[in-house]
Amino acid sequence: MPSIYLAPMAGITDQVFRRLCFAHGCDGATTEMVSAQGFLTAPKDRNAYRFLLARYDDEGPLAVQLFGSEPRFLADAAARLTDMDLFSSIDINMGCPAQKVVGGASGSALMKDPALAARIVAAVKRATSLPVTVKMRLGWDAEHQNAVAFARCVADAGADRLTVHGRTRMQQYSGRADWAAIGQVKQAVSIPVIANGDVADGPSALACLRETGCDGIAIGRGALGNPWIFEEVKAALAGVPCAPPEYREVIDTAMRHGREMAAWKGEKSAVLEMRKHFSWYVAGRRGAAALRTRIHTALTLDEVEALLRTLPA
Ligand SMILES: Cc1cc2nc3c(=O)[nH]c(=O)nc-3n(C[C@H](O)[C@H](O)[C@H](O)COP(=O)(O)O)c2cc1C
Repeated sequence: MPSIYLAPMAGITDQVFRRLCFAHGCDGATTEMVSAQGFLTAPKDRNAYRFLLARYDDEGPLAVQLFGSEPRFLADAAARLTDMDLFSSIDINMGCPAQKVVGGASGSALMKDPALAARIVAAVKRATSLPVTVKMRLGWDAEHQNAVAFARCVADAGADRLTVHGRTRMQQYSGRADWAAIGQVKQAVSIPVIANGDVADGPSALACLRETGCDGIAIGRGALGNPWIFEEVKAALAGVPCAPPEYREVIDTAMRHGREMAAWKGEKSAVLEMRKHFSWYVAGRRGAAALRTRIHTALTLDEVEALLRTLPA
């Protein structure tokens, strides 16, 4: 049975959201990306890293994702994270398209320098006893789609698994993910390859697995406001029906998400951080757009809950 992972999403895949996804059948998750250099130089109690690295004891397998471009920093950060005994693997971000990341020659900029990417993988492998995985794209732009050669290079350097997002850096999140191109990577290497991009439900998961031949799928945006997607995909794989959650369950889950966030960060922060999540939970329902505006002015979780209950089931 292919594994179904939650893809890392900065600002979203924190411990609260991950726990919900695990509760609904997710097989593994990744933290939000963490700067190797920032982590090494930050004071130990710095809130940003405390939050980024926080994990509940009852989560499933969790990779910590690092970004950076200097092999020594990535290796040192990996060694320290390994000692924390919280993570099941170290993932290296070679796919982030954000200017502030590629400007530092990290993220998807590494796809332009396979030799450096390989040195990073080798250095991190030497620094940790944990599996080392790489998350990559198809290349920098349409003219430089080097995913197959790049994948071979990082696999030869010791990567234990790859996740391939089927877009180039220049595409960012536009267009369709190219599953056939992910399939070429799968054919080219002997380590497991996880397909990523545009899996939004059971049928698209089946199509993606069929087209790529991959060993699993990582789901990002399809899980926003929809932790049930993991059960849906697994039901599709098993060929059994899976009913979508009733609106009552959607509200209960959204509020559990909000209350766990409040227990962790305080209600004021939770109400602010949860705005986007609440919008995703109700997306597509009649009256959702107007409700979103009202949720954005709510100051307490009780107010949000009362608003959510005004939508028709
Ligand atoms: C808001 C947001 C934040 C993301 N943050 C990260 C990140 O920290 N690390 C990473 O490797 N990819 C990150 N991604 C990319 C996703 O992991 C994934 O590759 C991409 O969204 C395509 O998959 P999807 O179509 O299933 O969403 C992010 C994507 C989004 C939408």
